[in-house]
Amino acid sequence: MNSFVPSCEGVDARLVPCRVLYNGQKIPCIGLGTFGSDHVSPQEVASVVSEALKLGYRYIDCAACYGNEKEVGEVLEKAVKGGLDRQELFILSKVWNDCHAPDKLVRACEKSLNDLRLDYLDCYLIHWPFPNYHAPGCDVNSRNPESRPYIHEEFMDSWRAMEGLVKRGLVKSIGVSNVTIPKLELILRDADIKPAVNEMELHPTMQQGRLFQYCIDHGIQPIGYSPIGSPARPERDRTPEDISDIELPEIVSIAGRHEIHPATVCVKWAYQRGQIPIPFTTKPRNALSNLKTVLSDPLSPEEMEAVAACERNCRLIKGQVFLWKGAKSWLDLWDVDGTIPGWDSYK
Ligand SMILES: NC(=O)c1ccc[n+]([C@@H]2O[C@H](COP(=O)([O-])OP(=O)(O)OC[C@H]3O[C@@H](n4cnc5c(N)ncnc54)[C@H](OP(=O)(O)O)[C@@H]3O)[C@@H](O)[C@H]2O)c1
Repeated sequence: MNSFVPSCEGVDARLVPCRVLYNGQKIPCIGLGTFGSDHVSPQEVASVVSEALKLGYRYIDCAACYGNEKEVGEVLEKAVKGGLDRQELFILSKVWNDCHAPDKLVRACEKSLNDLRLDYLDCYLIHWPFPNYHAPGCDVNSRNPESRPYIHEEFMDSWRAMEGLVKRGLVKSIGVSNVTIPKLELILRDADIKPAVNEMELHPTMQQGRLFQYCIDHGIQPIGYSPIGSPARPERDRTPEDISDIELPEIVSIAGRHEIHPATVCVKWAYQRGQIPIPFTTKPRNALSNLKTVLSDPLSPEEMEAVAACERNCRLIKGQVFLWKGAKSWLDLWDVDGTIPGWDSYK
């Protein structure tokens, strides 16, 4: 039998609140991440996606570079053929850094559509604002000699190709990821179709308050990646100064009061603050807790304030592998002094 049967333990997907993008498109207020990193196979990720759809998830956060769109696509096709309404789904994918050239970008989108077995994507993002490729799983100190700083004219060539995808009906919304206010100012100035979302690192110890507010003020929906602080990220993405969100006393104490896991406190806070969290998990029971937590027992204003006070500017995904020759530190990727560094770092 090939029918899509929602799980009796799950949530009625129609009860999960949506946010509305500036173009009127609806997006569920929580999604499922699909980056298995080095340790979760494509089949395992696809299996969690399959369970998550039955549990009530409708937004699946994909990307070509996660290396599992084919396997996720099989699950999506099976669910839709089995009766899940395609229009209920919100499928997001991202173009990887080696496909920023306009012709490659269009082909990359067509490949993701083909792999995901879809006629259109609900949203397509430029994954990083740098066209800087690195091999999957490479060492944090490895550098590609071809790497470049952010060059706005080149980025806009890619963005025009993104706009073309919308005009062709292949993509409903387009957006950015890992960009900063200085970059967004240029993009908003020059775009014909402005970005609908910005996927950015957001968790209690990395709240990016100014960028978050800038996005809200400009009608760009923040999507929060690594919402739980990515506790299973690979060794190469760890530094001694990193802080674990789910071990912070404030988060642990709130979790105790609500009798939930600290991870779900992070998800609850994210939802209530206004970003869309996209937690990853290998376990259907955790996927369900994360989904249910947005529907129940909200944090009090005092608890929201206590989480706000956990801000430590603790960036976990620093992006060292994207650095170019002449860049001084990973901070060059994040425009930390309010300007965009060129070939020789900040002037
Ligand atoms: N745009 C970008 O550049 C970018 C960068 C990074 C990530 N992302 C996206 O963001 C998604 C999420 O980020 P992430 O994977 O780095 O980290 P994350 O979602 O913050 O953390 C995932 C980890 O949290 C654990 N977890 C999840 N729910 C839990 C629960 N209810 N209780 C206890 N533990 C729980 C999972 O363990 P279990 O497996 O044991 O549940 C997993 O190890 C990615 O999958 C990807 O889609 C995007």
